[in-house]
Amino acid sequence: MTTSILVTGGTGTLGRPVAQRLRDDGASVTVLSRHPPETAEGIRYMAGDLSTGEGIEAAASGAEVIVHCAGSSRGDEQKTHTLVSAATGARHIVLISVVGADRIPQASVIDRALFGYFGMKLATERVAAQSGIGWTALRATQFHDLILMVARALAKLPVIPALAGSRFQPVDATEVAKRMAELALGEPSGLVPDLAGPKIYTVAELVNSYLSAAGKRRPLVPVHIPGQAARALRAGANLAPDRAVGKRTWEEFLADRI
Ligand SMILES: NC(=O)c1ccc[n+]([C@@H]2O[C@H](COP(=O)([O-])OP(=O)(O)OC[C@H]3O[C@@H](n4cnc5c(N)ncnc54)[C@H](OP(=O)(O)O)[C@@H]3O)[C@@H](O)[C@H]2O)c1
Repeated sequence: MTTSILVTGGTGTLGRPVAQRLRDDGASVTVLSRHPPETAEGIRYMAGDLSTGEGIEAAASGAEVIVHCAGSSRGDEQKTHTLVSAATGARHIVLISVVGADRIPQASVIDRALFGYFGMKLATERVAAQSGIGWTALRATQFHDLILMVARALAKLPVIPALAGSRFQPVDATEVAKRMAELALGEPSGLVPDLAGPKIYTVAELVNSYLSAAGKRRPLVPVHIPGQAARALRAGANLAPDRAVGKRTWEEFLADRI
């Protein structure tokens, strides 16, 4: 039997390889996008916007499984609520979240302004868990692509502010995609073990390796951020050293991309 799967965010860094993998595994794949491309390559694209709700019922109709990879820096909780309300026929929703979602305090205005993303992802997990649909949530660390995007933006400055004391454990988005596809073809499992990259780096190490690969030189200035969330980050709440199961390192990713 062919499983009918809706992939939200199937045009993004994570969702694109998820959709391709599920298609290659023989699923009938529909991708939701605000700007659906015309070419299909065995994948059906449907227009819809999770912020307004437009097109979501039509895209979700007939989907047995939803792989929810759509996301942005704000409003994921509301977008997910819109999705699960429309997905009346689905039996399983697989959600991507972030390592540390439950460990980064959201106590002050600074915590929420700078690290509200973690609180938002935890709230999003709860929306899926309370939806009445069978659910699975995978927490991953930051994707290499995100670190590269941030490093590129920082390298445009004459002096680079680097978060003091914080470390990151970037993971390859294609490895996360492989796991998401595997989870989508399995049974609802609740919160599954975290997925993190093979190595842990300081911010200075990440930025300096980018600068060196790009042939640039910039001074770094350590920046100390106040608040409980930043303290939790310095204590490693965003890391999963016991779940360093990703294989591709930041250095390997950089060598391929630059
Ligand atoms: N990047 C990381 O380091 C990281 C780490 C852990 C977890 N995550 C989570 O992984 C997910 C995917 O991240 P990513 O890096 O792949 O993001 P991305 O490349 O920025 O892609 C975002 C995707 O979300 C879709 N989207 C955004 N707003 C939407 C809306 N209102 N309605 C419908 N679709 C919408 C976009 O589709 P269209 O533009 O085609 O509409 C796009 O496909 C997010 O939930 C993120 O929080 C990311």
